[in-house]
Amino acid sequence: MQDWSKGAAIIRGEIVPIAEARIGVTDWGLTRSDITYDVVPVLDGAFFRLPDYLKRFAASRAALRLAIPEDDAAIRAALHAIVARAGLRDAYVAMVASRGTPAIPGARDPRACANHFYAWCVPYLRVIPAEVEARGARLWVSKSVHRIPEDSVNPRVKNYHWGDFTQALFEAYDHGADSAVLTDHAGNLSEGPGFNVFCIAGGRLITPRGHCLEGITRQTVLEAAAELGIPAEVRDLPLAEFIEADEVFTATTAGGPVPVVQVDGRVYGNGAPGPASEALRARYWEMTRRPALRDQVAYA
Ligand SMILES: Cc1ncc(COP(=O)(O)O)c(C=O)c1O
Repeated sequence: MQDWSKGAAIIRGEIVPIAEARIGVTDWGLTRSDITYDVVPVLDGAFFRLPDYLKRFAASRAALRLAIPEDDAAIRAALHAIVARAGLRDAYVAMVASRGTPAIPGARDPRACANHFYAWCVPYLRVIPAEVEARGARLWVSKSVHRIPEDSVNPRVKNYHWGDFTQALFEAYDHGADSAVLTDHAGNLSEGPGFNVFCIAGGRLITPRGHCLEGITRQTVLEAAAELGIPAEVRDLPLAEFIEADEVFTATTAGGPVPVVQVDGRVYGNGAPGPASEALRARYWEMTRRPALRDQVAYA
């Protein structure tokens, strides 16, 4: 009996349990981080905003000159097939395009590789665990590492260049924090390992413009703010302004918006999630239930 409860993958056109999915050791996705990916949620039996995630995935492939045989319709069909096969009603669903393996071993020419697509799904997961979300997260601003410059690795292309994030995470854990945020080389906020950041100051919602992924959750939060009449700004956000803000929260596909109650030594709102963050979080989850934004999975 195969165990599908932990998830499923599709690779080389074959659907397998997640534990059996493999890529080759000479694949440039592994040896060069020459790969891009995207992650869409399945919430209560339906994909949320799937066309937006497919669009971003296509833009990432174009930016890296990764050409896979599958078009959007084939990718959508593959994602539906693995989620239905695994029977997951709430899932974290990754779609990946890798450079592949050079036809001539050791070749340095990226044009010599057969680019390929694979996808996998696991039970819905949260970048910031639910118990941390319940009390509000504590973030640490990395002192030892900056976000990699955006003219070196484009952060709008979802990528596996996580060296800066991983170092910042170790530093955050060393200081008793739950996760990290990084600044760019000019001292502006960028993002954290797997999430965008927001703050509320003087009744306005502010999120960094550059040095970060243009998150789909970030976009949904900005739309939620418009609905709630909260003015929003997408611009450079100096660290000092962020630290002095009234409220802070994170946003990602893997968990939605999550309140932050502490950044470094600064405690926000007496250590409780702030009212504007809570209103936006509630509106976000309400938006995930809107039929127009959902693509229902046909389970067997
Ligand atoms: C580096 C980074 N920033 C931000 C995000 C949030 O983007 P999204 O809301 O599209 O998941 C992610 C991924 O989830 C990420 O990996």
